[in-house]
Amino acid sequence: MASDSEPAVSVEDRSAVVIGGTTGIGRAIALAFADEGADVVATSRTREAVEDVATELRDRGATTAEVTCDVRDRESIERLRDVAEETLGSVDVLVNSAGTVAQSPITEMSEEEWARDIDVCLTGVFRACQIFGRTMTEGSIVNVSSMSAGQAREARAAYCAAKSGVDGLTRAAAADLAPDVRVNAVAPGFVKTPMAGPKLDDGSSFRETVDERTPMERVATPEEIAGTVIYLASDAASFTTAQVVTVDGGYDVSSL
Ligand SMILES: NC(=O)c1ccc[n+]([C@@H]2O[C@H](COP(=O)([O-])OP(=O)(O)OC[C@H]3O[C@@H](n4cnc5c(N)ncnc54)[C@H](O)[C@@H]3O)[C@@H](O)[C@H]2O)c1
Repeated sequence: MASDSEPAVSVEDRSAVVIGGTTGIGRAIALAFADEGADVVATSRTREAVEDVATELRDRGATTAEVTCDVRDRESIERLRDVAEETLGSVDVLVNSAGTVAQSPITEMSEEEWARDIDVCLTGVFRACQIFGRTMTEGSIVNVSSMSAGQAREARAAYCAAKSGVDGLTRAAAADLAPDVRVNAVAPGFVKTPMAGPKLDDGSSFRETVDERTPMERVATPEEIAGTVIYLASDAASFTTAQVVTVDGGYDVSSL
């Protein structure tokens, strides 16, 4: 809750859980929370990845726990919540950053590709919002959506549909969890990560086209997405809920 003094962009002493927090944007978010004085549990499916990020979190002074989580498995999200609450006392911030992206034209996309993206990117966010929303008494949830939610992107039918769903889910969850828990989304444009890096660095004209169309003339770093998540989780955003904040260097509304 905001105090009578000016609301601060601070997450010091907060307790955060970052799902999909071992690589890319999620990892940058987890490390940024630790750097800002929060305790953090960062998780994904594999033990090695979880151990690796936990070491970095401890090096930055954060209390953490090593627990894997598959967002396609409800029980593993419940176990994550229980371990996080036991280790951190309570959870003030939940960040949903897990994602997959099938890359097939709609005429060729398999049922399996469709089902995986919808399950990981959309239903996984629903499961986590529901499971954590049942015990969070205050704080903030930030879902990682995508600029693709509002775009006509080739060969991304499942991903675009899932991310559009995340935007709607974010608004509906914000209504259900208000006034104690705020729910917002951040919608990144192009960010160099394990997910988008190969396409951005494939030597084609794609990267040049993106840079040219982007008023900021480049793609984002994962840390630049983390900055917005820190803001949304802080008291500086104490009256901000049910919003999708686009962080794309101006790409989506560019006239170029
Ligand atoms: N990189 C971009 O340009 C970009 C742009 C817009 C949105 N996003 C979104 O940002 C988020 C993070 O993506 P990223 O670019 O950092 O890529 P990434 O591949 O590094 O991150 C995705 C993370 O999700 C985890 N994950 C996948 N399936 C999972 C599951 N079933 N259970 C738990 N964890 C699972 C992976 O282990 C990985 O840590 C995603 O939701 C993605 O859609 C990325």
